[in-house]
Amino acid sequence: MSAHARGLAGVPATQSSISSIDGEQGVLAYRGYSIDVLAAHSHYEETALLLLEGELPSSQALSAFDAGLRAQRVLKPEVIDLMRGLPLHGHPMHMLQCIVASLGMFYPDEISQPTSARAYADPDYVRTMSIKIIARMPLLVAYWERLRQPGMTQWRGGQAAGSDRRGEKLIEPRADLGFAANFLYMFTGQEPEPFMARLMDACLILHAEHTINASTFAAMVTGSTLANPYSVISAAIGALSGPLHGGANQRVLEMLDDIGSPAKAKGWLDKKLAAKEIIWGMGHREYKVKDPRAVVLHELIEKLIQHRGGKTTRYYDIARTLEEAAKENLAAKGVYPNVDFYSGILYHELGIPADQFTALFAVARTAGWLAHWNEQIADNRIFRPTQVYTGEPLREYVPLKDR
Ligand code: COA
Repeated sequence: MSAHARGLAGVPATQSSISSIDGEQGVLAYRGYSIDVLAAHSHYEETALLLLEGELPSSQALSAFDAGLRAQRVLKPEVIDLMRGLPLHGHPMHMLQCIVASLGMFYPDEISQPTSARAYADPDYVRTMSIKIIARMPLLVAYWERLRQPGMTQWRGGQAAGSDRRGEKLIEPRADLGFAANFLYMFTGQEPEPFMARLMDACLILHAEHTINASTFAAMVTGSTLANPYSVISAAIGALSGPLHGGANQRVLEMLDDIGSPAKAKGWLDKKLAAKEIIWGMGHREYKVKDPRAVVLHELIEKLIQHRGGKTTRYYDIARTLEEAAKENLAAKGVYPNVDFYSGILYHELGIPADQFTALFAVARTAGWLAHWNEQIADNRIFRPTQVYTGEPLREYVPLKDR
């Protein structure tokens, strides 16, 4: 029997020029630019364009892309009606996968079925669709936050006067705000202070792309069938929702709640490891050191604490202690904090409830997924791997009465 690679570990499934990882040195770069540099100097709009088109844009190209994104901050009312019809206690990732898939029906002109990859690989089409999809994603997440049932886990708001059917009043986008600030404004109902908008922006940059992980691979496989771009992104969202992938960030906060205080972190960890349980937000297939995104997120939390005059947060204190305790045993296996370990702590400080963390991840990652979709269809061959068959050899059918 020939061997197969479980989880396709170490199997190159494509060639790509979008991002690169050095798992030994702890480096992640988008198009050759290290993410710590991008998080410090770029903003999401610029990073998205870099991912999509391969180079840092000129100011003219960036302005055109940014204007396109602002102009596309709009959804047909029927889309919002469909959201209202969903179970309002449903998970944001399930809503997102469902609604994104439905956009192809609401905007049929955008997905005219091509018979060859060429139609989907047309640069004008790719750029137009990328702008539309990137611009619409945060609207869906923010509207869902306002629409869904008050009283559910971590729901912060009351029932505002003039409210929508069951939730809060929907907040219209503001064309004068950048991508990150507009998202926070629509989500929380308050214009964020520039420092907090900048934190959000850095988080979006850090989550925008990560080579061909499970969700990106799902996008590529779906794109390789010439499925429409909404189906491509919807498939990726489904893959991202699992707790071994994007869903881990929500689990991290639940885990920190379970630990309760820094003093209990070590005992809690020892017990979990003895029971061979997973520690959420730790470990990565590619990194054998601390995930470079976790390094930047850790620094951002420190900056937030400084910005608040040294006021720390309970979650951060528990997480730091847990990271230290994990060095004693998990580090020997190359298991260190990954991107999800510290991201939720920042999102929590930005007023985002834990069950929305992965949806926010999806908003950011849409740029990376679209860049890979573009790369896939530009040189397409449908994905069709093979398998090692372990079932029965050919055999005779036995009629029901003789079994
Ligand atoms: N907690 C405890 N042990 C862990 C661990 C974790 N989070 N991550 C890896 N390990 C251990 C494994 O049990 C295994 O130990 P063993 O050799 O004694 O059997 C060893 O480290 C190697 O891990 P492995 O499961 O082979 O890694 P993988 O590449 O298949 O899986 C993840 C990678 C990300 C799925 C895995 O690390 C994990 O489940 N992490 C938690 C979920 C998470 O945070 N996901 C977000 C990723 S960005």
